[in-house]
Amino acid sequence: MITPRVERPNIHEFDFVIVGSGVAGLFAALHLADRGKVAIITKDELTECNTEYAQGGIAVALGEDDTAAEHAEDTIAAGAGLCEPHAVELLTTEGPGAVEELMRLGMRFDREGEELLRGREAAHGRNRILHASGDETGHEVERSLSRRAQVHPSITIFEHTQMTDLLVIEGRCVGCDALAHDGGERVRFVASVTILAAGGLGQIYAVTTNPLVTTGDGMAAAYRAGCRLMDMEFVQFHPTALYHEGSPKFLISEAVRGEGAVLRNASGERFMPGYHELGDLAPRDVVARSVFSEMRSDGRDFVELDFSSIPLERFLSRFPGIVAELRRRGFDIYSERVPVAPAAHYAMSGVLTDLHCRTDLPGLLAVGECACMGLHGANRLASNSILEGLVFGVRCARMAPTLPRLSYEQMGVAAELAPPPVRVGAPAIRSELQRLMQQCAGMERIGEDLAEARAEVDARVRQIATVPSASREEAEAANLVTLARLMLEAALARTESRGAHYRSDFPELDEAWHRHLTLRSGGPDGPIVEFAPVERPDA
Ligand code: SIN
Repeated sequence: MITPRVERPNIHEFDFVIVGSGVAGLFAALHLADRGKVAIITKDELTECNTEYAQGGIAVALGEDDTAAEHAEDTIAAGAGLCEPHAVELLTTEGPGAVEELMRLGMRFDREGEELLRGREAAHGRNRILHASGDETGHEVERSLSRRAQVHPSITIFEHTQMTDLLVIEGRCVGCDALAHDGGERVRFVASVTILAAGGLGQIYAVTTNPLVTTGDGMAAAYRAGCRLMDMEFVQFHPTALYHEGSPKFLISEAVRGEGAVLRNASGERFMPGYHELGDLAPRDVVARSVFSEMRSDGRDFVELDFSSIPLERFLSRFPGIVAELRRRGFDIYSERVPVAPAAHYAMSGVLTDLHCRTDLPGLLAVGECACMGLHGANRLASNSILEGLVFGVRCARMAPTLPRLSYEQMGVAAELAPPPVRVGAPAIRSELQRLMQQCAGMERIGEDLAEARAEVDARVRQIATVPSASREEAEAANLVTLARLMLEAALARTESRGAHYRSDFPELDEAWHRHLTLRSGGPDGPIVEFAPVERPDA
């Protein structure tokens, strides 16, 4: 227990502060709660995050016909040569234990009798996807973990509180500054260990399945504080988001293709078998690019998903959320095919960490989608992301208490330090940026467009002023601009095509590029690009 040094309403002192409330943040919090006082800060309601919207499920080798080694093999094959094998081994071998623990905490997976039901998704060699309420797995994960966190006496939850910057003193992270939205008041969290579990950056694109909160706040703050980010060029596009007006796009889970649904072009032809031997269950990057290519040759903005081979009873019971949403939007699910198109879905990129979630900055850990240890390589295998949050949430919680605690003197200094200026980006920048990134850094990239977009975003980076206060929207827009600049830099540098990164001017995979790319801040001169080998010694 910490005795507060400074009794001020806008300074909070904790042992551990966790930014973000998806699966990684909540699981880490529950594991840390018997080691000290934990704060979870989250900028919206507790469960408004990518985890909440995950449909497909959790991939894990729990069946008797399956092994961790086979799960690892599929993960590595999907990752197009850039998966860190040690990270994959940890994910797949520690996964079953983490999932069993999740069940002990109250997670209710779908079962037949006592038996867990296991679905199939793209590029998995086995049926190993556990799911809940059919297609509402993420919601059930958030429900079970948030209920526990809300009643835990050592956990304090700060909703509607947005981390604006990390607090760094003498090369060590000592907490973070935040904006409390009710009133826009600036608050400070002082802690021995800060954990970024702040999620992805899908909102950098105009077409995304990610909710409005996914603005890469954790990655941008870590970059500003001097951490390296890795694999920024790799953003996964999900092949089958429902084609409709507005954003975010409604996801239609890959699990429907696992149950037999197929993709068809404007002529009604099944096209996936022509692109890959696994047909509609090819790796996600391959399916997304094939869909894109068919859309282009058909001159349409979508292809069609045909559910007719799935028996109706089965479809209704396995995908109640998708059925309800399609009906709500007026589709006749008994007879109609549904228009779908790719949408930005998941960041393989993030704050560079080792296998214990340590970043470049002492006192700062990162976990989940905002972190990057090279686990997913150039293309994440379907339904591995919630498992990542569980396995590395635990590892992060094991590491945090071993880090040096802040002394009372250091806490006092941290509490007294003047707040840094908040970066401001006009909200209008957001939609402009989303359009630009969709056009130039989407599923297909070309050097000329990337360079032009980089120049445009560079001008925006310079416009981001420093003034003493900001709204949530302004801070989010500034973070998106910062990360867009880094994504463009990385996408320009990687002159090959691999996984989710496709360059039409360099369409082949190039073995010389069998390496990761990291970026760190070089001040006004822009980011410094460096290379890291695959099988990094620290990973
Ligand atoms: C899906 O249900 O298709 C998405 C699963 C995932 O992103 O892993």
